[in-house]
Amino acid sequence: MRVAALTSHETPPEVEIQDRSTPSPGPGEAIVRVEAAALNHRDLWKLEDDDRLTADDLPFVPGGDLAGIVEETAADVSGVSEGDRVVLCPLETCGTCRFCREGPENMCENYSSYDGAFAELAVVDANRLVELPESVDIVDAAALPIAYVTAFRMLERAGTTAGDLVFVPGATGGVGVAAIQLATILGAETIGTSTDEAKLRTVESLGLDHPIHTGDPDEMRTAVAAIGDVDVTINHLGGPFTRVGLEVLRTNGAMVVCGRTAGQFPEFDARNLYFGHKRLFGSTLGTQVDLEKLVDFVERGRLDPVIAREYPLSNTARMMADMQSREMVGKLVVRPQQ
Ligand SMILES: NC(=O)c1ccc[n+]([C@@H]2O[C@H](COP(=O)([O-])OP(=O)(O)OC[C@H]3O[C@@H](n4cnc5c(N)ncnc54)[C@H](OP(=O)(O)O)[C@@H]3O)[C@@H](O)[C@H]2O)c1
Ligand SMILES: [Zn+2]
Repeated sequence: MRVAALTSHETPPEVEIQDRSTPSPGPGEAIVRVEAAALNHRDLWKLEDDDRLTADDLPFVPGGDLAGIVEETAADVSGVSEGDRVVLCPLETCGTCRFCREGPENMCENYSSYDGAFAELAVVDANRLVELPESVDIVDAAALPIAYVTAFRMLERAGTTAGDLVFVPGATGGVGVAAIQLATILGAETIGTSTDEAKLRTVESLGLDHPIHTGDPDEMRTAVAAIGDVDVTINHLGGPFTRVGLEVLRTNGAMVVCGRTAGQFPEFDARNLYFGHKRLFGSTLGTQVDLEKLVDFVERGRLDPVIAREYPLSNTARMMADMQSREMVGKLVVRPQQ
């Protein structure tokens, strides 16, 4: 079977299509024929900074989002069987810490997440497979597990309700678009930003209420303040947008942080936090139940995940370079069987 493996730390990424032997399932495992695997910025972090792979990790098959058909299961697996259409919840949890016992499971103290989706076949924990209704498109399903589940949990963590004003700096990528779509479903009003006017128009067509065309933090602060006091900031960018995201919040408003694309060590004014009684949350992924709810949203026609482009496995490097060049709106998806 073919895999797309990172072979160095170079950017643009160097990806080699390699032939590997056909895997067999160990206890509790299933083999999934991957029909679609979505790219997330976390796959690029493998090449950079604190998340960088070591030389010993290479070659490395990235990818945490996958949907496909169950090809084979181990003898002890009962929840799924050959031929089932499935999407993987990429959470890897210990099962014994207090959050695994009491929930939410995405807070597992020994958390990790799946890698290996950019392959024709993937070996996965069978208990982490969510069955797909016939009406849910397999490419749409592959878009959900990381970007949409993360955005969903962030909105929930902030207590987002109907009528809230939700601010999403960087509203055109995976988490950003998901946050706009899901906040809209919850009945919130949305503010989103982009450095690209055309991309912003596309997100407007998906329901964004207040587009702001800038990448400059100070311009952003002024433009958001002119719209109103923000209830919830969904911050996947980090860097200078953390300070802005906090300052535009109303008293007791909430900012949820899941990422750091624009900088890992943001600065903000502590007085703004405490005089404003503001709430600051960290959040990572979401639960398998969150993924099941989102599959249900798609089945019932409430959510239509945004797919920017599909690529054959041989173009995985191109897909990664396209994410780095920030040209597209929504999710980039590889089709390993093509
Ligand atoms: N903790 C978790 O569980 C979790 C889960 C998912 C994602 N994340 C994190 O969330 C972040 C977003 O992930 P993603 O997969 O959604 O990424 P993505 O699709 O690449 O995000 C693209 C968006 O980020 C903006 N952007 C990119 N680089 C920027 C920069 N240097 N300065 C300002 N804006 C920039 C783009 O703005 P333009 O429109 O202006 O181009 C676009 O709106 C990443 O840091 C990722 O690691 C964390
Ligand atoms: Zn645990």
